Amino acid sequence: MLVDTHTHIYLKQFDEDRKEMIQRAKDNGVEKFYLPNIDSETIDDMLRLETEYPDTCIAMMGLHPCSVKPETYKNELGIVKEWLEKRKFCAVGEIGIDLHWDTSTLEIQKEAFRVQINWAKELELPIVIHSRKSTQEVIDVLREEKDDRLRGIFHCFGGSVEEAKAIIDLGFYLGIGGVLTFKKAGLDKTMEEVALENVVLETDSPYLAPTPFRGKRNESGYVKLVAEKLATIKGMSLEEVGKITSANAVEIFHKNQAI
Ligand code: NI
Repeated sequence: MLVDTHTHIYLKQFDEDRKEMIQRAKDNGVEKFYLPNIDSETIDDMLRLETEYPDTCIAMMGLHPCSVKPETYKNELGIVKEWLEKRKFCAVGEIGIDLHWDTSTLEIQKEAFRVQINWAKELELPIVIHSRKSTQEVIDVLREEKDDRLRGIFHCFGGSVEEAKAIIDLGFYLGIGGVLTFKKAGLDKTMEEVALENVVLETDSPYLAPTPFRGKRNESGYVKLVAEKLATIKGMSLEEVGKITSANAVEIFHKNQAI
């Protein structure tokens, strides 16, 4: 069994073949698909997919840092809050800080991150963190907000052993995806030092397809390629990697509740 803990398969990139793509993933052993929200424009499509695949596609709610804009972020946060009050989600996500696309919004990105972290704490939900060129900024916020309710996934981890340790020490799991298969990324070396007990698998579809599909559209079935690479690095079987990482996903998203 495999779990894709981070996949945007509700996006238009899958409109032509969504059903077949989900079937291909299931044929590869993927049993659950966790859907991180982006902003108010993606909610309807995400929730529609969840309704079509109950207990298989599971929605999160949150405002992505790249959608934190001065004119709109307060309104966007209001929409997230309304949804969190209206029904149950498996996590608050994806939230965080992105300094690749826009550094001018750092302060409001931090504010939106903190606000959503606190909603997650109140609701006792995990958070799913997006961090790009901002590992230290994210770790600083997490250290300040740390309490025994704060937990979740550091999505698309690609950092050093030291960064991995800092994130694990904060009580977070590392989300490992296609970057693991990129030759020059060096993530394979980092993962030699990280125990699988701290890892979940993800694709971030349609982005960041693993080798040999790098540069093409990613899809959830390719999480198997990430699992295989991890199995090679760890000298374990694919089944073992699937078992451990899937149990971690259940622990994060379904703590205190039967699935
Ligand atoms: Ni994402």
